[in-house]
Amino acid sequence: MIVLFGHTKGGVGKTTCAVQTAIARARAGRKVWLVDGDPQGSSMAAIQLRADAGVVPEIACSLFSDSKQFKQQVRLQKDAFEDVILDVGGRDTDTLRFGLMMADVAVVPFAPMSLDLWAMHDMAKAVESVTDVRDGLVTLAVMNRAEPRERSADNAEAAEAVRGISTFRYLEAPLVSRKAFSAATGAGLGVMEMPNPDKKAVAELDRLIASVFAAHTVEA
Ligand SMILES: Nc1ncnc2c1ncn2[C@@H]1O[C@H](COP(=O)(O)OP(=O)(O)OP(=O)(O)O)[C@@H](O)[C@H]1O
Ligand SMILES: [Mg+2]
Repeated sequence: MIVLFGHTKGGVGKTTCAVQTAIARARAGRKVWLVDGDPQGSSMAAIQLRADAGVVPEIACSLFSDSKQFKQQVRLQKDAFEDVILDVGGRDTDTLRFGLMMADVAVVPFAPMSLDLWAMHDMAKAVESVTDVRDGLVTLAVMNRAEPRERSADNAEAAEAVRGISTFRYLEAPLVSRKAFSAATGAGLGVMEMPNPDKKAVAELDRLIASVFAAHTVEA
């Protein structure tokens, strides 16, 4: 299964979610390939730190800065893996379009902030331009950097706004803004691999991953 973490907007948590998902799925015994399609190479850098530190399981990871190479190599190599996780840069690029063409599930993270909510309309257009020419793409909107407060009005309002965009299926599996996510990802570790793991972060990630991989099965 190919899961894309993509958005036309930068800084929404694509790399964080992609790295955490790849590590968690590899730890669950899946044969995983993390593909970094962003010339910034943040996912690749995180996995390099992991490899240098000798952390297992090792994660297969490739960086394709060129959109054509990204498309060709994903097409050629995808069947050698059970889970292919695509992380693409936060702009409206050919790599994002190719990712949307090839993915089974596209996950679109957004923060409960007005700039991010506006950007969801741009991303919806990018998704629609692809779903006009292909079938079977499941597109999920996931709140990231949610406010920690249980009954946050900002979280509720943002969820409501995104639920109103029919291009996305809103996934009730938010990641709260937690230091554990940034610290772990920056070190090439899963949140569950940190010393004294943040149990809430681990539970949120588990729920997100279970929901993402169930989404495809449900709709197939
Ligand atoms: N749930 C979270 N809790 C705390 N910090 C987070 C969370 N998600 C992301 N961040 C932080 O927000 C910043 C942006 O995240 P990330 O790099 O994953 O976004 P991105 O969408 O991949 O950005 P880009 O478009 O630049 O590739 C990073 O500093 C990251 O550590
Ligand atoms: Mg990124």
